[in-house]
Amino acid sequence: MKIIPAESYSNLSEIAALILTEKIKNTNKVVLGMATGGTPTKTYQILADDYKRNKTSYRHVSTFNLDEYIGIDQADRNSYYYYMVENLFKYIDIPREQTHIPSGTAENLEQECKNYEQKIAAHGGIDLQLLGLGSNGHIGFNEPGTAFDTLTHVVDLTKATREANARFFNGIDEVPTQAITMGIASIMKSKEILLLVAGESKSKALDQLLNGKIDPSFPASILRNHPNVTIVADQSAIKHINIPAELLG
Ligand code: GLP
Repeated sequence: MKIIPAESYSNLSEIAALILTEKIKNTNKVVLGMATGGTPTKTYQILADDYKRNKTSYRHVSTFNLDEYIGIDQADRNSYYYYMVENLFKYIDIPREQTHIPSGTAENLEQECKNYEQKIAAHGGIDLQLLGLGSNGHIGFNEPGTAFDTLTHVVDLTKATREANARFFNGIDEVPTQAITMGIASIMKSKEILLLVAGESKSKALDQLLNGKIDPSFPASILRNHPNVTIVADQSAIKHINIPAELLG
């Protein structure tokens, strides 16, 4: 695990976009794991601008998103499908059939989870997984208490997560109570992980990730066992934290 300190959220987004474009340009066939939420929006904006300016092609890229709300249609502006199209896919040349997001409206959700895992495996696994961090330590929608060996599955969202995401909806009552998410084991299988942590509200979670116990009560702690994790964190997220010197490289 290593940490790249960024001066600001903009700087964090530039660093993340650079890591992603380097991977895209230097790999013949690449499978990216995508995240949603507030943190990666600027990274996606920079990728969209880069496509406009430099025509960095995504024709050889496939993507798998971490998660999706249950009961929300793709066309709904709060679906993660909609988020990905509006924030990135519509601006770049990725063939839409190469983009994968679990369906939160599938009739058989258990089957949808199995199919999703199989599709990832059929693509040879994820080369680079982008991640955000929930303030309660969740990654994807793997809430505290999720066993480390879980694959893609259906989850009940905690009150804290629904409250944190209510800002995207017209109030908490509209936030779905369930989601489908890649599991901790699915995430840990990625060859490389890029975790973005921005803002003071994530500072405590980052501290726990770096200095706390590796335990399912704080799902992101498992990342310390992954052989290739880069964390890009901005000043507000790291200023009060004791960063183990070996992580700064
Ligand atoms: C959300 C998403 C995660 C995201 C995290 C942090 O609930 N399911 O994939 O990484 O919480 O979100 P944000 O970046 O908006 O703080």
